[in-house]
Amino acid sequence: MHKITMLGTGLIGMFYTMVLHGQRSRDQVQVVYSRSADRAQQFAATWNVPRWTTDMAAAIQDPETSVVVIGLPNSLHEEAVTLAAQAGKAILCTKPLGRNAAEARRMLAAVEQAGVFHGYLEDLVYTPKTLKAIQSVRNGALGKVLWARSRETHPGPHSDWFWNKDISGGGAIIDMGCHCIEISRNFIGKEVKPLEVMCWADTQVHPIEAEDSAVGLVRYASGAVGQFEVSWTFRGGMDLRDEVSGTEGTIWLNHWLRTGYEMFTAVGEGGYVAEKAEGQTGWLFPVGDEVAALGYTEMFTDMLNALDKGTKPMEDFYDGYVVNAIMDAAYRSIESKRWEPVLLEVWRGAEDADAGVKLAEYDAQHFLIKEEKMPDGRTKVILKEKAGGRIVQKVLEG
Ligand SMILES: NC(=O)c1ccc[n+]([C@@H]2O[C@H](COP(=O)([O-])OP(=O)(O)OC[C@H]3O[C@@H](n4cnc5c(N)ncnc54)[C@H](O)[C@@H]3O)[C@@H](O)[C@H]2O)c1
Repeated sequence: MHKITMLGTGLIGMFYTMVLHGQRSRDQVQVVYSRSADRAQQFAATWNVPRWTTDMAAAIQDPETSVVVIGLPNSLHEEAVTLAAQAGKAILCTKPLGRNAAEARRMLAAVEQAGVFHGYLEDLVYTPKTLKAIQSVRNGALGKVLWARSRETHPGPHSDWFWNKDISGGGAIIDMGCHCIEISRNFIGKEVKPLEVMCWADTQVHPIEAEDSAVGLVRYASGAVGQFEVSWTFRGGMDLRDEVSGTEGTIWLNHWLRTGYEMFTAVGEGGYVAEKAEGQTGWLFPVGDEVAALGYTEMFTDMLNALDKGTKPMEDFYDGYVVNAIMDAAYRSIESKRWEPVLLEVWRGAEDADAGVKLAEYDAQHFLIKEEKMPDGRTKVILKEKAGGRIVQKVLEG
């Protein structure tokens, strides 16, 4: 059983506490911190939290808790991590770890110097579908991963601070690109070095300084590309999709809209449908178990199991730091309109990678490019001549 300090009583503080207290859990939020006494008191009453405070340091230093969960706006992550590391607590921080790689790097140094457990709460790599898909990729079902595309779009966040670049650190990239980038890293392989980023972004709709839409490509040392697509301008709810292509296979994942539960109601039922749903009538896409579908359940299980066993969780502050470094390169690319290098002061993965094309043998004279059965029953084989490199085709009858 873990006794937990929860920092923040907003959307994520609520989801986290719901999971930590869910399903006959042994773990317990003991103290909750919020800026506002009213909100703290109300939250504590709703979620059966014994104590509340408006003093962040006091919540972190609470003598009864050993784990601090950070669910505060991005600008407060570093302060909370620093205080929690000084207090010697295990620290679980929401995404993005920092507003930029420099902040994330300092947070990584703080937890490592203090020798405390650290987990990066990247829930979307823990959805049951994603965990299974990552396992299939690791088992080799897709061969070598070439392309991992991840998309998160919705009509925009639910609180003022997200829209303020100073507090959040950016727009849709910092808010949602961090999810997409880490999903792609999990599929491509976290040991594979991200080399450079090309990114387009614009402020298409909202009157803000930051980007409300972006598409980026992250090139990896293996030759794989991670593609992220993020937007705060998408209409119709929350679109969460991933796609992985490898030399031997493909995976398509759809996490939120049209996932097998579709309902039409002319009158609605007066309640909540799903996160970022735009309407309550007409065709709706409710979600059965939202905290499971978004990965929160498996995420806390992994984090707290790792803490019990003294092992590393699937996602830690180092991952958060790498994601921030990739996003920094994306922001530089938006300005320069060029590929920008991912600047990693600390790299703990592989330096070499298995990039490039593997040649498949066809016969003594040819390499095989591809083979296809045509509608008329013939088979076409596209070949490359070993001598001279000419590309030719053979048609096999029947
Ligand atoms: N899927 C996810 O992992 C996910 C989803 C949503 C949010 N988040 C992250 O969680 C964090 C909080 O987001 P949220 O959606 O809960 O936001 P929110 O606005 O719903 O809640 C933020 C909380 O912080 C408090 N707060 C705001 N400004 C503060 C300040 N200056 N000092 C102290 N407290 C302050 C608010 O009162 C509220 O309790 C962010 O880092 C966000 O990126 C993660």
